[in-house]
Amino acid sequence: MRFLVILVAFVSVVFFGQHKCEPFYPKATIAFFFGQEYYTEYFAIQDFEDVILHPAFDFNKSTVLYIHGFRESVLADSVQMVVSAYLSRNDHNIFALDWSNYSSGSYVAHAVPSVIGLGNRIGYSLNLWIEHGIIDEKRLHIVGHSLGGQMSGYIGKMVNLLSRGSRKVKRITALDPAKPLFYINRTAIISYIHKDDAELVDIIHTNAGVLGSSISVGNCDFWPNGGTFQPGCAVNSIINCDHKRSWMYYAESVASIEPKFNAIICDDYKSFKNLNCTDNLTSFMGFYASENCSGIYYLQTNNDYPYSRGVFGMLYSPLVDIDRQNEP
Ligand SMILES: *[C@@H]1O[C@H](CO)[C@@H](O)[C@H](O)[C@H]1NC(C)=O
Ligand SMILES: *[C@@H]1O[C@H](CO)[C@@H](O)[C@H](O)[C@H]1NC(C)=O
Ligand SMILES: *[C@@H]1O[C@H](CO)[C@@H](O)[C@H](O)[C@H]1NC(C)=O
Ligand SMILES: *[C@@H]1O[C@H](CO)[C@@H](O)[C@H](O)[C@H]1NC(C)=O
Ligand SMILES: *[C@@H]1O[C@H](CO)[C@@H](O)[C@H](O)[C@H]1NC(C)=O
Ligand SMILES: *[C@@H]1O[C@H](CO)[C@@H](O)[C@H](O)[C@H]1NC(C)=O
Repeated sequence: MRFLVILVAFVSVVFFGQHKCEPFYPKATIAFFFGQEYYTEYFAIQDFEDVILHPAFDFNKSTVLYIHGFRESVLADSVQMVVSAYLSRNDHNIFALDWSNYSSGSYVAHAVPSVIGLGNRIGYSLNLWIEHGIIDEKRLHIVGHSLGGQMSGYIGKMVNLLSRGSRKVKRITALDPAKPLFYINRTAIISYIHKDDAELVDIIHTNAGVLGSSISVGNCDFWPNGGTFQPGCAVNSIINCDHKRSWMYYAESVASIEPKFNAIICDDYKSFKNLNCTDNLTSFMGFYASENCSGIYYLQTNNDYPYSRGVFGMLYSPLVDIDRQNEP
């Protein structure tokens, strides 16, 4: 094992060492999280291959890469909550991209162009990390919230493109992928997260049509509480509460040893509310989504932590969100 590490390190120095020209997006970093005390080590993208020398990096573990949203950084609550959940599992190499130097400022002029440029740039590097045995794409899960969900799609597309279709990231989970600018025209230059971007693309919609995408284009799309308004959000003053629920649900699913968030395929939310789902096909939402999940799933959550209602989440109850009874 040690020999392999040294060999890979040597190979990467030889291969990458010659190409240390001015990197694209030099002000983005990848944070590596490990240990129960939330230790963090930062890598520039062009130096990421050094991670194999890190004693906490484990080739035998699956790898997760989390990508934050607009005007966030790895210090954001979303990152800390999801990362803490993974740390408690202790079964993944856990990374988060910090693109705060590009995700701030104007949404249209800075953040969205960076989603595309940085997504392509990471996809390019990821393809090399895969070729050099640093990351195994079959054990890689990219999780992104909002603009990060869209960036995950660009990373997956680029890996697929550069490998001429021979390689796909194992899984992408998009947590309420950002809507503004991405869905204006299906043939537009700005493409959006799509099921072709990974072997499995699962999407959680919590603020559909407002900040989040309102179309189902993953292998499986989950529409908790109908996907637009979330229970408990009407009465609290948290900014973007519905949008943020996507990563709260996800973090709760990761932190649980047992699968949670049972969801059921249904024609639409109205049928779900009428307990009239014709097929009895289920999957869990979030971390434990089935590998073969396919279609549009509904479930109901609680209005506060713990959000999961287990199997009862598949049986709509009008008592859960009394504040939102009159909303669509
Ligand atoms: C943002 O850019 C500044 C200036 O180049 C740099 O010092 C800082 O490390 C960057 N932040 C992150 C999180 O990469
Ligand atoms: C990785 O797993 C293999 C077998 O699956 C085992 O032989 C090896 O010792 C493991 N390496 C580490 C670093 O745990
Ligand atoms: C989308 O863009 C294409 C090409 O730019 C155009 O032909 C088409 O009419 C547009 N569709 C809509 C719905 O705007
Ligand atoms: C249940 O769904 C079927 C079609 O899927 C429809 O014909 C029927 O009216 C629905 N029943 C109720 C109570 O909504
Ligand atoms: C649906 O499946 C569950 C468990 O697989 C079973 O308990 C339940 O009776 C089924 N319901 C229908 C209507 O077939
Ligand atoms: C996925 O596979 C499981 C068992 O392997 C099966 O019960 C379930 O119906 C499948 N789901 C779909 C959507 O095909």
